[in-house]
Formats: sequence, structure tokens, C-alpha cells
Amino acid sequence: MFPPFRILPSLLAADYGSLASEILRAQNAGADAIHLDIMDGHFVPNISFGPAVVSLAAKTAPDFHRNVHLMLTQPNRYVDVFAKAGADTLQIHVEAQCNVKDTLRAIRSAGMRAGLVLNPRTESGAALPYIEEGLVDELLYMSVYPGFGGQSFMDTPLPNIRFLRARYPELEIMIDGGINCQTLPLAAQAGCNAFVAGSALFKQPDMQAEIAAYRDILEHL
Ligand code: DX5
Ligand code: ZN
Repeated sequence: MFPPFRILPSLLAADYGSLASEILRAQNAGADAIHLDIMDGHFVPNISFGPAVVSLAAKTAPDFHRNVHLMLTQPNRYVDVFAKAGADTLQIHVEAQCNVKDTLRAIRSAGMRAGLVLNPRTESGAALPYIEEGLVDELLYMSVYPGFGGQSFMDTPLPNIRFLRARYPELEIMIDGGINCQTLPLAAQAGCNAFVAGSALFKQPDMQAEIAAYRDILEHL
């Protein structure tokens, strides 16, 4: 069965002067989870925030699922740190410099869902060994090069997403980068069921209306 649609605001685009209320704003707007982008200044050319912000989200909104996207060269070193901070899903890049299988297993052993992320030009074949072995609870395709919010959507991963959806009808397939009212239907038609949106949601004064508009688009594809 095709998995349910999910909408995940990315906290990267929030107002950093009031992070706790921004987390609550996303939850009250009807989002399915909060997406937290962790950047190390090495795997990507930017530094964002660390486990303290995941803890803040856990304390502020305990029932709001925390979807944590690690853009780290060595994510294997931080699995337990993010488990303790309260991550519910931990996503690692297939391009990271670690043993990806062991790290996906470690994420589950620490009690979290395991996500595997592919950069826009990484072929879907790179994910197959991990999916086939049953190590992936969710697959995330980037539709921008990771590192910064507010970039334009790239359609490069769409053929790879179509391939994966045809092969795995029940797989959770998420997309991240440049998602808004215009690009959401393209991603959904390619087979995505989960959508991360940073600037398009947090820059809206009425996030609830924007999320409702997304759900309306998804219901009428
Ligand atoms: C990019 C991050 C994204 C980013 C999305 O490196 O992984 O989650 O916050 O931001 P928008 O939706 O503004 O492209
Ligand atoms: Zn992200």
C-alpha cells in the first residue's frame, strides 16, 4: 500500500530568536513531524545546530516526531548522542564516510527509525543494497545540494524516485529542498509521499493554511 502523505517543516528556516515557539507553530499548523538539519561544516559547507536543538524540540513538543537529517562526514560517531537528545528518526547520507550498514543498524539498536539520504545526482542504485537488506525505514532524496535552505528545486532525482517507487510500492520516500506549492506535485507524481519544506513553510505567516493547501494538492493529484 502507498504510504500516507506526510509534511515536515524544516526548522532550519525558522526564527532562531524563538525556536521553541517556532516548533510549536509547526506542530499546531498540522505538520506530521519536525525536520532538523544537522550540518558539520565538513560534509556540507555550512554549520547549523546540534543535539541541543533536538533536545529543545523534545522538551517543547514531546509528541511531535523529530526527523533528524545528519549532514555529517562521520554520522556513526553521533548515533547515541542524537538518540539521547530525543531523535525519533535519524537519517544518514549514503555518501558519508562510514560503514553505512553498521550505522543504519546502530540507529535501530538505539531505538530510532533509520533513514538513508541520497544527494540529487547519486543514482538510486546506491541505496538498493541497504533497502534490499531491510535496513531502511525511510529513504530521502535531496532535491538541492545539501547545506543551505532557500535553494531552487532540482528535478534531477525525479527519474530515480520513479524507479524506486515502482520497485518498492510501500517504501517511505521523502524529498527535501525547494519544495513549495509549485514543486510539490512534481515530487508527488514521481512517487514521493513525504515532503520537507523549510522556507516555503516557515516564512508563511499562516503556516496552517499553507500546509492545508499542500494536503489539498496531494488529494487532487
Ligand atoms: C538543505 C536541508 C533542507 C532545507 C530545506 O541542506 O537539508 O532540509 O532546510 O530548505 P528549503 O525548503 O528552504 O529548500
Ligand atoms: Zn534536510
